[in-house]
Amino acid sequence: MSKGKFYITTPIYYPSDKLHIGHAYCTVATDAMARYKRMCGYDVMFLTGTDEHGQKIETKAAAAGVTPQQFVDNIVQGEKGILDLWKLMNISNDRFIRTTDDYHVAAIQKIFRKMYEKGDIYKGTYRGKYCKDCEAFWTETQLVDGKCPDCGREVQDAEEEAYFFRLSKYADRVQDLLENTDFLEPRSRVNEMVNNFIKPGLEDLCVSRTSFTWGVPVDFDPGHVVYVWVDALFNYTTALGLFNDKYDDYDKFWPADVHFVGKEIVRFHSIIWPAMLMSMDMPLPKKVFGHGWLLLDGGKMSKSKGNVVDPYLLAEKFGVDSLRFFLLRTFPFGSDGNFSNEALIQTINVDLANDLGNLVSRTVAMVQKYFGGTLPETQEADEALDRPLMEMVSGLRAAYEEQMEKYAFQNALAEVFKVISRANKYIDENTPWVLAKDESKKARLARVMYNLLESIRISAALLIPFMPESCTEIMKRIGADDYSWDSLDRFGVLPANVTVTAGEPIFPRVDAEKALAELEAAAQAAKKAALPALEIEPFAGESVDFDTFCKSDFRVVKVKDCQPVKKSTKLLKFTLDDGSGTDRQILSGIAMYYKPEDLIGKTLVAIVNLPPRKMMGQESCGMLISAVHTEKGEERLNLLMLDDSIPAGAKLC
Ligand code: ME8
Ligand code: MG
Repeated sequence: MSKGKFYITTPIYYPSDKLHIGHAYCTVATDAMARYKRMCGYDVMFLTGTDEHGQKIETKAAAAGVTPQQFVDNIVQGEKGILDLWKLMNISNDRFIRTTDDYHVAAIQKIFRKMYEKGDIYKGTYRGKYCKDCEAFWTETQLVDGKCPDCGREVQDAEEEAYFFRLSKYADRVQDLLENTDFLEPRSRVNEMVNNFIKPGLEDLCVSRTSFTWGVPVDFDPGHVVYVWVDALFNYTTALGLFNDKYDDYDKFWPADVHFVGKEIVRFHSIIWPAMLMSMDMPLPKKVFGHGWLLLDGGKMSKSKGNVVDPYLLAEKFGVDSLRFFLLRTFPFGSDGNFSNEALIQTINVDLANDLGNLVSRTVAMVQKYFGGTLPETQEADEALDRPLMEMVSGLRAAYEEQMEKYAFQNALAEVFKVISRANKYIDENTPWVLAKDESKKARLARVMYNLLESIRISAALLIPFMPESCTEIMKRIGADDYSWDSLDRFGVLPANVTVTAGEPIFPRVDAEKALAELEAAAQAAKKAALPALEIEPFAGESVDFDTFCKSDFRVVKVKDCQPVKKSTKLLKFTLDDGSGTDRQILSGIAMYYKPEDLIGKTLVAIVNLPPRKMMGQESCGMLISAVHTEKGEERLNLLMLDDSIPAGAKLC
């Protein structure tokens, strides 16, 4: 029997770069919630997708020399693309929307027209600032140091004929919604929205653009495309079938039970989104939950900073379940959290390898060792020795549920791990290895084992939404067939003569030092790969007058001899024929680039009228000329070499 419907969404992601662990954070949280609700018996709709229109995509596609559609197709469906990532992370979404899907585009046109016909969208002139990267319009007052308040990048002046949405008309209703209901959580985000955006006065929102074409065309005014956020927000309803025949789930699932969104897009979801729904006379979602950011070294991960954490690499090294678990166990969902490899490894070793993993492997090993893998009939529980554990275990589901219903994943997991620790302590209290030595205590020993298996059944089953593969495997190992939601607040569901199965450790211990070194090497390589392929020095801004230039005396020189300089890793000592009849000595810091013997006999260029200077105790009379540039962050140097037919002493001019 279904407990009712539950509709949950992630934001739809921009397919502008490969996604990183920060993106996976929100999707994993949504997935855990969806799996939990299914386990409880809800009919769940879990939607995710991609937000594919807008100027940023158009610009990036042009730079890559492909069409915008080819560009997004590659990032969505290509190798290690968004769909691959969700497969890797074991994301159980029921639906995936792409805003370039035909049914969505047609529905957005109808929605735009409906708000226009109602008079909530009207034509005007847009003047303001636009951040291309965030696809966001800002007023002067919202800028921080003249830059985009979200990403800190430069904004552009924008003025064009445009359609506007009467956001101002809905300001009071939205403020009431935010202040007097629990529509937006955590509560701290309400003040931010009301004080920073609503109280200063909500201006009407520009909802069409004419300066680019990669978007949903306004069907009654060619040349205008719908503002990408209008296009994006309504995905939550078109994906259910609003104004299209592709799906037929709108009546069943709308309004959404919760939208999970990152904190920087709370503004769009808690002000613009409800206002547009009010305009459309549609029911409002029940809740918007604004989660925090996963930070790296205290800052937001971003491809341009080259500090993104690659989920593929981590999943490959530590397993997908460990990674999923870490994200939700370590950071409170509503706040920012600092990602580190150390913390990840620590969580795996302490919670998973040590506490949960050991509990399972010790228990299974003991049942095998003492009973050949199958428990005999057990005796009654002991009031003093068993009752505290049993009560804690049978109360776990309720404690966990209370936290999960608040989206407090970290607290829900803490409840489970309290029980796991208690069960480990129970082993030490009951010393099964001592009981095993006494034949008359076999029945008691079986009872101890049974209690442990039941503790594992209930706690690991509640971890399935977080670690689906590993915890389902644990159910197999302990012989649990029934771990349905209804069985999880009852101690004593496992059959008395249960059979266990041993196997490889489910959560192997990580060698921290080795893993950290490998990750560090991978991070360095990634940083390097993110560097520009080729960089050249900026051109000199200042000009030099001709007479000054002519004073520099450049001459063709021939290398008679070239030797390394003792105790210097950089310097080479050149003996040169400069055509004057007297050898010239020049020291040059190019030992990293050339072997001395390779240079003998070459025809080079030197400036010969620099004042002589001493280097490592030796005199250098002039300087050899080379071409310098940077490749992937590494400086490259090439000595200027001329045709050997040019005589020494020829002047360059
Ligand atoms: O904003 N930590 O897309 P997006 C936590 N297309 N969350 C992070 C994160 C991090 N380091 N980096 C990104 C968009 N995210 C719009 C949404 S919805 C109608 C349109 C989260 O790809 C971010 O907070 O820039 C956001 O919730 C989500 O990833 C998608 O970001
Ligand atoms: Mg973003």
